[in-house]
Amino acid sequence: MKLIKTYGSAIQGVDAITITVEVNVDTGVNFFMVGLPDSAVKESQQRIESALSYIGYRLPGKKIVINMAPADIRKEGSAYDLTIATGILAASDQIGSTNIDRYIIMGELSLDGGLQPIRGALPIAIEARKKGFEGFILPKQNAREAAIVGDIKVYGVENIKEVIDFFNGEKKLEQTIINTRDEFYASLNEYEFDFMDVKGQENIKRALEIAAAGGHNAILIGPPGSGKTMLAKRLPSILPPLNLHEALETTKIHSVAGRMSRSTSLIAVRPFRAPHHTISDVALVGGGTNPQPGEISLAHNGVLFLDELPEFKRTVLEVLRQPIEDRVVTISRARFSVEYPASFMLVAAMNPCPCGYYNHPTIQCMCGPGIVQKYLNKISGPLLDRIDIHVEVVPVPFKELSEARNGEKSAQVRERVVKARKIQEERYQEKKNIHCNAQMTSKQLREICKIDSTGQLMLKNAMEKLSLSARAYDRILKVSRTIADLEGSAGILSEHLAEAIHYRSLDRESWGK
Ligand SMILES: Nc1ncnc2c1ncn2[C@@H]1O[C@H](COP(=O)(O)OP(=O)(O)OP(=O)(O)O)[C@@H](O)[C@H]1O
Ligand SMILES: [Mg+2]
Ligand SMILES: [Zn+2]
Repeated sequence: MKLIKTYGSAIQGVDAITITVEVNVDTGVNFFMVGLPDSAVKESQQRIESALSYIGYRLPGKKIVINMAPADIRKEGSAYDLTIATGILAASDQIGSTNIDRYIIMGELSLDGGLQPIRGALPIAIEARKKGFEGFILPKQNAREAAIVGDIKVYGVENIKEVIDFFNGEKKLEQTIINTRDEFYASLNEYEFDFMDVKGQENIKRALEIAAAGGHNAILIGPPGSGKTMLAKRLPSILPPLNLHEALETTKIHSVAGRMSRSTSLIAVRPFRAPHHTISDVALVGGGTNPQPGEISLAHNGVLFLDELPEFKRTVLEVLRQPIEDRVVTISRARFSVEYPASFMLVAAMNPCPCGYYNHPTIQCMCGPGIVQKYLNKISGPLLDRIDIHVEVVPVPFKELSEARNGEKSAQVRERVVKARKIQEERYQEKKNIHCNAQMTSKQLREICKIDSTGQLMLKNAMEKLSLSARAYDRILKVSRTIADLEGSAGILSEHLAEAIHYRSLDRESWGK
């Protein structure tokens, strides 16, 4: 009888837990697997058998018992094929076993011994280093993703044969080495789109600059072709650059979701996720039987863009409320629950009415009475409540579009945003989990957003004149604080309030009437 231990890892939320695979080969002819493996793990017997015979090895014709521990951790997926296969080979003396326990070994086997990518290579590498493993052997597709963790040898392999040769001391494996800092700085400012491409629309850009500066959720309302999608796509380029910690957080989520491409190691630019309005709530917020992060977590530290907001199913929008509030989503199952971070800026876009031309300067809206209001009501009130800035986008007339010069570069706007964020960081440095104005609680709002009597009077008048709802009040104060920060003003002045009042279009009672 021979007992061998090999090591794999299980993902829980965005972290990994080391899994010990014990393989015991004894007299007899059966194959047992214990320790809560799910059906995919059970199928691995077939894959292992086929892969080994393809490359000229075999399962020993004996009794094989495989125990995966700890038993109370769910081990899902097929990523343990390689862990189990190397264990069987070592336990049946087909490969050397002296160093085998110094590695995390993972990968799904194809029937020909090739390796398929795994999920969560980054958190697994982080955990492996923490536990003092010497190396991590995994499918080549995931090697760069894992290699951003230093102090652990990462070996990307394409076929189980390479692993066999390695443990038999016949061939070395090629180590994947990445300089994380170089990688980070190299891709830091690589934005796909620039604000410069948007001609005119200075007031919209200003609104988005404010949104970026305070981390405020925003909605763009305007007719077809007015540039809403174009503007939203450029938002990541004016947000403050990610720091390395945030980049790692975001990369971890994409790694767990299996969304890293073979060539990417680190996500260094804020993500921009734009799920289609037909998306299911599971795909949006995460979940499923084998829980996976949803779009809101893939947007962590970046932007979630919901284009054509009223087209989303109401139930889908409802599930967004909690994560927007908590900045994390919890997925509960009978026997366990997992958490995925989901701190994102929400940007939405919509036409003002079904025909698209309500409030248009030159085209007449064709919608009958009550239709505009009904259209707006498709968006759940509580979601709208969490959007600080409403911007009405009016198209730039074609003639002006062809004549206008390019706008300001994103980099310049970003500089102002970063400056305003610095002020906020200082303001909230004592406050846990609060980093920017959009995140302040209503209690903090009363402390931080004090306005003088002139401001108060102005705000009161404006609220009455525009028939703004009560919920607009807090939003206006928050946004005016950001406008003041952009100007480097210690106090909130009347002009800051006046501009903030401007961004509450959908709260006006006259909207749609
Ligand atoms: N201010 C602008 N500067 C440069 N190009 C613009 C501008 N406004 C619109 N365009 C051009 O018009 C196209 C349509 O804009 P976009 O798709 O962003 O509009 P939209 O408001 O999202 O429309 P829809 O409601 O139909 O989705 C853009 O791809 C761009 O080429
Ligand atoms: Mg659009
Ligand atoms: Zn209309």
